[in-house]
Amino acid sequence: MATLPQATTRPKEQQSALFDYFWSLAGAVSVRTKILGIVLGLVILLGVGITIQVRETLHNALAARLQEQSVSAARDLAARATDLILINDLYDLHQLLNETLVNNPDVRYAFLVDTNGEVIVHTFGEGFPLDLLTANRVAADGHHATVTLDSDEGQIWDTAVPIFEGRAGIARIGFSENSVHTVVSRLTNQMLITIGIVSTVGILAAAFLTWVVTRPILDLKQAAQAVGQGDFNQWVQPWAGDEIGELAKAFNVMTADLARAEAQHIEREELRSQLLEKVITAQEEERKRIARELHDETGQALTSLMMHLHKMNQQCPVPELKPQFDDLRQLVSRTLNDVHNLSVELRPSALDDMGLAAALQRYVNDCRKRYPLEIDLAMIGLDNARLPSTTETALYRIVQEGLTNIARHAQAKTASIMIERRHGRVRAIIEDDGIGFDSGKTSGKERLGLYGIRERAELLNGSVIIESEPGHGVTILVEIPI
Ligand SMILES: Nc1ncnc2c1ncn2[C@@H]1O[C@H](COP(=O)(O)OP(=O)(O)OP(=O)(O)O)[C@@H](O)[C@H]1O
Ligand SMILES: [Mg+2]
Repeated sequence: MATLPQATTRPKEQQSALFDYFWSLAGAVSVRTKILGIVLGLVILLGVGITIQVRETLHNALAARLQEQSVSAARDLAARATDLILINDLYDLHQLLNETLVNNPDVRYAFLVDTNGEVIVHTFGEGFPLDLLTANRVAADGHHATVTLDSDEGQIWDTAVPIFEGRAGIARIGFSENSVHTVVSRLTNQMLITIGIVSTVGILAAAFLTWVVTRPILDLKQAAQAVGQGDFNQWVQPWAGDEIGELAKAFNVMTADLARAEAQHIEREELRSQLLEKVITAQEEERKRIARELHDETGQALTSLMMHLHKMNQQCPVPELKPQFDDLRQLVSRTLNDVHNLSVELRPSALDDMGLAAALQRYVNDCRKRYPLEIDLAMIGLDNARLPSTTETALYRIVQEGLTNIARHAQAKTASIMIERRHGRVRAIIEDDGIGFDSGKTSGKERLGLYGIRERAELLNGSVIIESEPGHGVTILVEIPI
């Protein structure tokens, strides 16, 4: 019972596999070939079908006529032979048979048999084939009998007719079917030639028609490929008012819409970039201002507060107050340190004064103290000349974000930073050996660090590749042209 469903589904599976195989071959050829193939197939099928049918019908009709002819010839022979047999005129009987042979080119032989079954006369010359005698018999009450016999030169229609109602013997005549075959073959050849000519004309016409039909489709295909590659300025000539023409018009409307949408997109992207650039510049300016303020105002105030505390400590007449002065001084000193660090974090003056290499060196030294992390820093080609200030700022912030991420998320033992200036480009590689992450899933409003790295690089026409897999650390590769 369990095998029953299998048995019923298998032929279907085979059918569909067969169809799939057929379609993998037929579906792969061009529309032009498909149409030509269909036309050629139909013409050949029709031609061969008609030829076979006409051959069959003609052969049957001619064979029926041959049979009638053989019967009437045999009857004629029997009628004319009656008297000659009765008077036993062998010479004239010979003459009669020869005449029958000469008058009818399809007659292959004729002979007369007496009532005892002995051959009276025949047209075989020497050696009468005896088995011919038994090959055809007329029924006792019959008028005639016709059988087909095989011979070296094809089929023979053999007709036997009783002479004088059987009382004087039997007349036999053999008609060859050769003439029928000749006519049928001639007609077949003519039909094949006609089919050949019609096929050629049909194929030429089909080739022209398919060219007319497929040309606009090819135009559409090329235009669609160009659109796929981002060229929206495609316009296809609608060749006719048919469905393909309508398709071309719809395609043109679509590409025009796409071109418009693309222009709007580019415009919006430009605006976004400009806005982003302004935001980043404003942010840097603001950080610079706050850093300067912290350094110049708050730092100065705290320094002078410390000096005053020192002086007050020295001049204080109450020795019990001295430890409190010391505590206060230490607190102010720590705050001063924090303010300094904050100001450097916000905008390292080294970046403006001494350049990227010095600022990064200082930042990495700070990080080494702050995080339990071994950090390698290699800088190649940065000593000779300064980079443009926007590039320096961007690279500094990118490294800053990269290292902060490593400290916050990576659980890494070592991090390495490599900055190399070569062939008009700066390339930065920030790597760690931490837990990594699925780089395909970093999106979300709060995750701005990696997004910021990309934006900063792209604003300077650079590129960013972030490679990571869970458990295999993270590599950030940034390239910015100078
Ligand atoms: N070096 C790293 N190792 C492991 N995971 C990381 C690393 N860098 C980034 N990630 C993962 O990618 C996420 C996105 O990082 P991104 O810097 O964009 O955001 P964030 O650090 O979480 O927030 P912020 O916007 O403050 O930077 C992180 O939350 C973290 O899961
Ligand atoms: Mg981050």
